Amino acid sequence: MKKQWWHNKVAYQIYPKSFYDSNGDGIGDLKGITGKLPYLKDLGVDIIWLSPVYVSPLADQGYDIADYKAIDPRFGTMEDMDELLEKAHSLGLYILMDLVINHCSDEHEWFRKACEDPDGRYGKFFYIRDADKEGGKLPTNWRSYFGGSVWEKLPGHDDKYYLHVFHKKQPDLNWENPDLREEVYRMINWWLDRGLDGFRLDAIINIKKAIPFRDYTPDRDDGLTSIDNMLADATGIGEFLSEMRNKTFRPHDSFTVGEVFNEKPEELPDFIGENGYFSSMYDFSENIFGRDLAGWHAYTDITPDDYKNCVFATQKKVSNVGFISNIIENHDEPRGVSRYLPEAGRHDTGKKLLATVYFLLHGLPWIYQGQELGMENIPVSSIDEVDDISSIDSYNVALDAGLSSSEAIKVVEKYSRDNARTPFQWDDSENAGFTTGMPWLRINPNYKKLNLKAQKDDPESVFNYYKKLIELRKNSKYSDTLVYGTFKPWLNDMHNIMAYLRETEAQTLLIAANFQESEQEISLPSRIREIVLNNIPDFIRSEKGMILQGWQAVVLELE
Ligand code: NOJ
Ligand code: CA
Repeated sequence: MKKQWWHNKVAYQIYPKSFYDSNGDGIGDLKGITGKLPYLKDLGVDIIWLSPVYVSPLADQGYDIADYKAIDPRFGTMEDMDELLEKAHSLGLYILMDLVINHCSDEHEWFRKACEDPDGRYGKFFYIRDADKEGGKLPTNWRSYFGGSVWEKLPGHDDKYYLHVFHKKQPDLNWENPDLREEVYRMINWWLDRGLDGFRLDAIINIKKAIPFRDYTPDRDDGLTSIDNMLADATGIGEFLSEMRNKTFRPHDSFTVGEVFNEKPEELPDFIGENGYFSSMYDFSENIFGRDLAGWHAYTDITPDDYKNCVFATQKKVSNVGFISNIIENHDEPRGVSRYLPEAGRHDTGKKLLATVYFLLHGLPWIYQGQELGMENIPVSSIDEVDDISSIDSYNVALDAGLSSSEAIKVVEKYSRDNARTPFQWDDSENAGFTTGMPWLRINPNYKKLNLKAQKDDPESVFNYYKKLIELRKNSKYSDTLVYGTFKPWLNDMHNIMAYLRETEAQTLLIAANFQESEQEISLPSRIREIVLNNIPDFIRSEKGMILQGWQAVVLELE
């Protein structure tokens, strides 16, 4: 594999609204991030992705952009952004922004002009269709990701609809139109020319629709059909993605990571191979495990064996092709420790175990803000406390499916995007040290105990364990193996054991974890040379190799 500058890096996602508030208005901001760069430097991460900070009505927390070339005043100013870039670069950190180009905001100038003149230049930037004069039928039966039809009346035109696969305040951009594509590329280059290091590409698979538009079989009583059905039918996204790469990212040698959900397996090399559209893309296999078109209430919980199978399947598919981005959570998901650890393992030892097994996989490890402290899901007592638009929709879908309101709340509690969006827990002072004002979203009540201040100087803390993992991946003694070594499952059939080898000609490392209370004997392919990392104080050797105690995870160098 051709080496790239970013292969040996560690990446970190910031959700700016909830990271650190510098001016007491309850909303995290760019100055807050800049002030905390030394914290991130000390943690040891290199590449930082900022969720959107552009001008936005925040209908979907900034994933609805009204001006791509300006910073929302709630987050700061363009000077603040320049300062952040400069400070980050002086510390050797790289900054990525979120590239949300499947859709913009209905408050974007393009959409306003499209409403003024649907047949003009800007009308062609969107998907606008005439209403059916006789039957009142909508152009297609697709259901938006956030519920309801994807078609909304075009403001000011009773006889026209526009397409939005997300919220109605997120009209889809028409990528079939070369004029729109060129506008988007100009904007991307404008940012890269300012010194930005790259982008995370939001919802990118949605930019190619199946054309001509048609109905698909309904999958709920609402008579609508999941967008996934249309996307599975769409072909030819590669033309857009390679054009974008050639005209923007490649000439800047920038780093890109795609939010890609449903690529076809044979397309993987096109996406992240040596000549791929992106540098990397996320592994969502464990994240989409157990999903059901009926809605959140029908999802199946994931067990440690399921988790292992998902992750290993991706490793098998990808590790010869390119670098996948490994995560346990992001701003759209519950907290990883609340999801992938069985209840009995939701303690510091279990948190360290989960960290160990995902972080040392082949690919690029990502940490989502607060994950390094072991932040957890937040309890919900009423739907009125919930901010996330997809949680509110899923709550109603659950009620419609016959769940009681308390059952529906439990569903929201498990999957809500608010879980990851509660403010970062800096210390045990009021509002967890996040703001001196009124936080925009509830603080997790566990902050008095679970916060950075309590962990920073405790050598046994989850935080210091993450630091060790980061140091380990960068330690010249192991980095070649951890970055480029092959991946091989070990004892794959052992229940609740997740173990794998990372190997180069020169070195073999074994990563092994026991996702349960009871101890397990683990046989080893060769003798132990060194115990490189252990999430508990002791280590028991056995005839065949070792005894893994409950929730123990180890990294061993083998002979
Ligand atoms: C994926 C983003 O991560 C999510 O937060 C957002 O709601 C959708 N894309 C729409 O932009
Ligand atoms: Ca603020």
